[in-house]
Amino acid sequence: MEITFSLLSWCSIFILAALLQLTWRHSGQKPKLRPPGPRGWPIIGNILDLGTMPHQTLYKLRPKYGPVLWLKLGSMNTMVVQSAKAAEQLFKNHDLSFCDRKCPVALTCHNYNQGSMAIGQYGGYWRVLRRLCSVELLVNRRINDTVPNRRKCVDAMTKYIHEASDAARARGEPGVVNLAHFLFMMSFNVVGNLVFSRDLLEPQCKDGKEFFDAMDQVMKWAGTPNVADFLPFLKWLDPQGVVTNMKEHMGKAIQIASKFVKERAEELKFGSNQKAKKEFLDVLLAYEVDGREGPEKISDHNINIIVLEMFFAGSETTSGTIEWALTELFRKPETMDKAKEELSRVIGPNRKVEESDIDNLPYLQAVVKETLRLHPVIPLLLPRNAIEDTEYMGYHIPKDTQIFVNVWAIGRDPESWDEPLCFKPQRFIGSNIEYKGHNFELLPFGSGRRICVGMSLAHRVVHLALASLLHTFDWDFVPEKASDTRERMGITVRKLVPLEATPKKRKIYV
Ligand code: HEM
Repeated sequence: MEITFSLLSWCSIFILAALLQLTWRHSGQKPKLRPPGPRGWPIIGNILDLGTMPHQTLYKLRPKYGPVLWLKLGSMNTMVVQSAKAAEQLFKNHDLSFCDRKCPVALTCHNYNQGSMAIGQYGGYWRVLRRLCSVELLVNRRINDTVPNRRKCVDAMTKYIHEASDAARARGEPGVVNLAHFLFMMSFNVVGNLVFSRDLLEPQCKDGKEFFDAMDQVMKWAGTPNVADFLPFLKWLDPQGVVTNMKEHMGKAIQIASKFVKERAEELKFGSNQKAKKEFLDVLLAYEVDGREGPEKISDHNINIIVLEMFFAGSETTSGTIEWALTELFRKPETMDKAKEELSRVIGPNRKVEESDIDNLPYLQAVVKETLRLHPVIPLLLPRNAIEDTEYMGYHIPKDTQIFVNVWAIGRDPESWDEPLCFKPQRFIGSNIEYKGHNFELLPFGSGRRICVGMSLAHRVVHLALASLLHTFDWDFVPEKASDTRERMGITVRKLVPLEATPKKRKIYV
């Protein structure tokens, strides 16, 4: 009986498929063309093909399938763009169609996605936030006003590194420090100063430490690949506990952030801390509809989310980039020598590096570009989502397709780069390639409407902190550990083995 049934059903499917094909032929319509890609399994599609380092796996598929790839991740259609030309087509001709985001389940906790800019839907609320951020927080004028804050955070970092190393020596150890840890603290404090105008990681700020710990957990869980993102029927099961953990830690982070925000709101209300210049938080608190679009006011909850987002988006990205730059310099001592020689020549032994020196340090800039080419810390950019059916490079891309732009692969593409796997900062000397979203072979900050809103801030912090570490210290390192470039996937791609080295303070400064 069963056999007859399944035979019957197979026959019906076959007849239906044949009929459909006949209808297409007679109607003159062609089946809609998708980009090529590996065949997937029923239900799970290509999920297992992606492995633990999706950007690396996809890069390896490029020779077989070409620059645009099609995958089925569970029930989710996914397109992957892997060449500078294909990225140019996407950002120049179809940015609007692809400028929505896909939101992971974990970031729906506490309605994070409703308040977020980075994973928020493209629309009125996003535009208001983007404008506020561009004009009030991350515009050059505001960044210029906060030069002393960053100076303070970088000085604190070099001081803590020096002290930690001395303390280790005093215990009879070699004086090795975990650079990744100090870089992360510095980047976290830079964002804290920008958003709350305070040092969160000072010993007297107890809430700062708790906030840091909660955010650390939030980032860990946000970076954990979650099978429920691809198989929505598993959402309610939360098989890896991602949502449960996220709820707990994000709840804690929101609670502390809201305390900071309330303190600031009180200060504003009672004028106990009137400052001539309005700070970002003040602008968010005071925002009222400006007659164009978006919300009438930004709710208290959403203000907390925006604040969290700045830490999310701005700390690990920045510290990870500096860690990769140091790793590459340690691996190639001739590049380290050149960077140090430039600093000695331009800055000299009697003063610290300042942000205003960056323009006069072309080799340092080349080191940062080369680092971002080989180690873009968000290798697939933040996933985009097709707002509508779109014809792209001869393919039909249906609405709700997830889009990855594999900038990690583009940075290694021999069609764009000579000796792509070599760390050669020199290649940027005399070249006008920038990472501002117009040179499609180098897109570590993305491009188009959703390009990183913190790019100019990141540019300053990465150069200032890296230059200060090279100018203040000479470094000893264990070659096997430092030269290990294996990656670890989280909210960003970090070095699997955190970078450790021994600082030796140089005799500089009067
Ligand atoms: C080296 C440091 C950084 C790197 C490599 C980086 C990279 C990126 C990338 C690749 C995107 C996605 C772009 C796209 O989809 O086209 C992004 C978005 C974003 N970044 Fe950054 N970022 C860095 C630092 C920062 C900083 C310091 C902040 C703010 C304090 C920040 C805030 C944001 C925000 C809010 C978005 C979302 C923009 C939107 O969707 O409209 N980033 N970043």
